[in-house]
Amino acid sequence: MTAQKVPFIDLKRLEPGLWEQWQEKIKELFHSASFIGGKEVEKLESSIAEDCNSPFAVSCANGTDAIQLALRASGVGKGDTVILPDYTFWATFEAIVNVGADPVTVDINSSDLQMDFDLFCKAVETYQPKAVILVHLYGWGSSRLEEFRLFCEKRGIILIEDGAQSYGVLYQNQSIYSSAQISTISFYPTKILGAAGDGGAVLTSNQKIATRIRCLANHGRKDQYSHDGPGWNSRMDSIQAAYLNLAHEFLPTRIQQRKKAASFYRNYFKKNAELGISCVTPSNHFEENGYVNLLLVPSASRPSWIHSLTQEGIGYGLIYPSTISFQKGATPYLRGKIGGEIAQEMSQRVLSLPLFPYILQKELEQCVSCFI
Ligand SMILES: Cc1ncc(COP(=O)(O)O)c(C=O)c1O
Repeated sequence: MTAQKVPFIDLKRLEPGLWEQWQEKIKELFHSASFIGGKEVEKLESSIAEDCNSPFAVSCANGTDAIQLALRASGVGKGDTVILPDYTFWATFEAIVNVGADPVTVDINSSDLQMDFDLFCKAVETYQPKAVILVHLYGWGSSRLEEFRLFCEKRGIILIEDGAQSYGVLYQNQSIYSSAQISTISFYPTKILGAAGDGGAVLTSNQKIATRIRCLANHGRKDQYSHDGPGWNSRMDSIQAAYLNLAHEFLPTRIQQRKKAASFYRNYFKKNAELGISCVTPSNHFEENGYVNLLLVPSASRPSWIHSLTQEGIGYGLIYPSTISFQKGATPYLRGKIGGEIAQEMSQRVLSLPLFPYILQKELEQCVSCFI
């Protein structure tokens, strides 16, 4: 194996001047001993609310807590059934279990790899859920997003949108978060807006829910020593907020860089259709944020593509190599599942190539040179 020439993600490739600004900011926070809350957190929350066209944005410790806060603030808990897609990051499932609710997985649609709307309707009939978590994966979302939203609204089902990966995604020319009842974001370092550690946020148009989230994320506090009930400590610290505020300045350029790389890959695999590899493309309701490149390769040939990439020192990702319902750890908690075969098939076919802001054209060409 050769040394890695192109990493899957390079978090060290940052803008000139960012390091100096960050050092100044740390000095300022240190000298004012401003570590929890304060103006950096407020500034971040207002930028997020504005970007996402959402009336309320509440920051928290990470994207997993954001989902747990959204569930708990919506009154989802012990004995409630919550539907989620069978293909997502484990955190979506874990958050449901952690609030004491019972998850039901639903298969995905092979065209966009998001939860299948028709199977979701079947799951609602069968399991009568209190809530559903729709996950916007890969930098776009379901081509039937509007139907999900209308269906849930009509039936009084709580719809939480896990938008950990979808910062900057446009749906029908507006932020994907803007028409959600309640949605969540992750600021994990590899996300579109990445922190220098962990961070997350919940967005909602409902003031009562926003107040409840803020209270839950701060020990259930009404004021310093008076508590509405048990919450936990899921506050975002000021240092993360300050870093995110600096990074936010560069966000449009970073997203534009990602999108350029995403379309380079898309064009390459379209031009080389004889390879039998497709690059998944969102439906035209969406403008993607370039979160990842997502290839579908025949499962039988995936090991040999991986071998070539490894030989050439090119990083890659499998997002995700297993479905939720196939995970051993899910079995004791699953209330049920609807389908799962498509998700299972996709887990054996997905392959992602390096994609991050400031990836060089030369590097993109090196990555695809393995596919000839
Ligand atoms: C779809 C999805 N949901 C939830 C999360 C959890 O976010 P965090 O790592 O910030 O807790 C992630 C992060 O990887 C994610 O991709």
